[in-house]
Amino acid sequence: MSEAPAISKQEAAAILKFYAEAGVVDLLNDEPIDRFEVSRKQLEEKRAKRGNVNPALSPRVAAATSRKSTSPRLTTDKPAASPIQAASTNITVPDQEKIDEARALAKSANSVDELKELLADFKGCNLRQGAKNTVFADGNPNAPIMFIGKAPGRDEDRQGVPFVGPIGQLFDKMLAAIDLDRDKSYITNIVPWRPPGNRTPVPHEIELCRPFAVRHIELIKPKLIVLMGNVSTQTLLETNKNILSLRGTWAEYDVGGKKVPTMPTLHPDHLIKNPASKRNAWKDLLAISARLKELT
Ligand code: URA
Repeated sequence: MSEAPAISKQEAAAILKFYAEAGVVDLLNDEPIDRFEVSRKQLEEKRAKRGNVNPALSPRVAAATSRKSTSPRLTTDKPAASPIQAASTNITVPDQEKIDEARALAKSANSVDELKELLADFKGCNLRQGAKNTVFADGNPNAPIMFIGKAPGRDEDRQGVPFVGPIGQLFDKMLAAIDLDRDKSYITNIVPWRPPGNRTPVPHEIELCRPFAVRHIELIKPKLIVLMGNVSTQTLLETNKNILSLRGTWAEYDVGGKKVPTMPTLHPDHLIKNPASKRNAWKDLLAISARLKELT
């Protein structure tokens, strides 16, 4: 392997800035590392330290007998985290205990400000470690209409505000099309931390953030809810159906025993990528506007 050319501090800083903007969160070496081998060795070392494994047992039986019998863990098919990831981002898969903790914490909030503070202090979700900001909400907490998206992207993470950047610009145009703006609406996301590289949050991340989103809605008490895209629709309506089949059809979301009219619609990001879908989004917006007028 040839020597890497020497570069100045400024060049190094510019390259790192470029990587960060491109969503790179982990640094890798030039030489490939067999992560399975590394994980296996780490596991063996841990077991040896605990001294609770009978070496005569097969690895599978030994692993099963040394497992702690606490609450059930959710499983993931992700490969074991690399040592770099483990050290720098401490990626975790929540067990039921962590989810219960998130629920109890969210429930304990008696105001939107309290919820915001609790969320800012909550360390249970791995996404927060790669994010610059906890993106809580924007708009008017007393507005009758609440829009709920997926998760912050790069621009939202930088500014700490949901729906800014190109997606936010289209979102603002959608609001304006039905005579709304950010003073007349309230805007949040299911997940308040940017997933690396703007990927879709995975189920265990959504599961950990959902109690805060649910409490957020309970505290805002909107008269009408708009769910933008698959993640917010599937999470809050507890369905696996796709937004393309659900959009445009009114649903109900239970807020403290009150059924709130809820419209699943297309996410502005989808509309940027599929301009032909704007026709359907426009139909949804007209239905939302008419219902809002009835309710206010
Ligand atoms: N996409 C979302 O769902 N929410 C944002 O805040 C930005 C992009």
